[in-house]
Amino acid sequence: MPSSLKARVRARMEKTKEPYQQALRHVRAEEGRMPVASPRVERARRVADTAFAIAVIRAREAELPERERLFYDPFASLFPPDSTEASEGAARFFALPFFRDGIRLRTRAIDDAVREAIDAGIRQLVLLGAGFDMRGHRLPEVAAHGVRVYEVDTPEQLERKQITLKRSGLSNAANVAYVGFDFDTRDLAEELAGALEMAGLRIGERCIFVWEGVIGYVDDATIDGSLRAMAQVGGPGARVAFTHAEGSFGSETGSARLARLGYHLDHDDTGESLWRRYLPG
Ligand SMILES: C[S@@+](CC[C@H](N)C(=O)[O-])C[C@H]1O[C@@H](n2cnc3c(N)ncnc32)[C@H](O)[C@@H]1O
Repeated sequence: MPSSLKARVRARMEKTKEPYQQALRHVRAEEGRMPVASPRVERARRVADTAFAIAVIRAREAELPERERLFYDPFASLFPPDSTEASEGAARFFALPFFRDGIRLRTRAIDDAVREAIDAGIRQLVLLGAGFDMRGHRLPEVAAHGVRVYEVDTPEQLERKQITLKRSGLSNAANVAYVGFDFDTRDLAEELAGALEMAGLRIGERCIFVWEGVIGYVDDATIDGSLRAMAQVGGPGARVAFTHAEGSFGSETGSARLARLGYHLDHDDTGESLWRRYLPG
């Protein structure tokens, strides 16, 4: 991004307190380059509400005896569904076969992927579509190694997360930055890089990206753009831990898509392989 544009965006952010992407859109609109997009508020809210069902499952895990837990998230119980629609939406998820164990297993597997990345010297963790993921607060390895955490989600979702944390007396952790951002944009790679850089991320210095439970809610162009953005932001040696379902990559297989975009697929677990690893017997 040209530095003159960057400076104008920064000045607008300071003046209006708008999140990066909104400021960028206004500056571009002033230049006549792009109309200010009207947010698809209702759909975004429904998608955002899906994070509650996940938080409920993680909260139940914390109630299990320690030897039975796959992970410990003492913060998840702060995020019960906050409206009738959100409760009904969560109930629909709970009715799905294996929903609970699926969330338990993927949470643990991604926790392990984050720990491995930290062991390998990675010090930047980016949660794309962070929702109510509290890895930045709850994984002891993050604090122990001074890992900087960037939580990316819509500004509305991050606002309600921050309000909840504040109400619960949990002041913002110094190592966590909140990056309000909508992935549904034409210039995803450039805009995401800009937003993360403004939030303090060192572009090109290895990151681990967590992209958990997001692919199902964005279209194929956004999936592609997100993968390109992560490659650009994280540079060589960056890692991505993500969840996907059959058909997530259209007519392509996941491994073909990843290879085409320059990724090396290190491992591809199925629900069954995770089950055998973490819930033997
Ligand atoms: C199912 S939740 C998963 C939350 C979290 N990753 C987890 O596993 O706990 C999906 C999250 O992706 C976010 N999301 C979906 N589409 C998005 C978009 N276009 N831009 C930004 N965030 C988006 C939602 O707001 C929501 O928080």
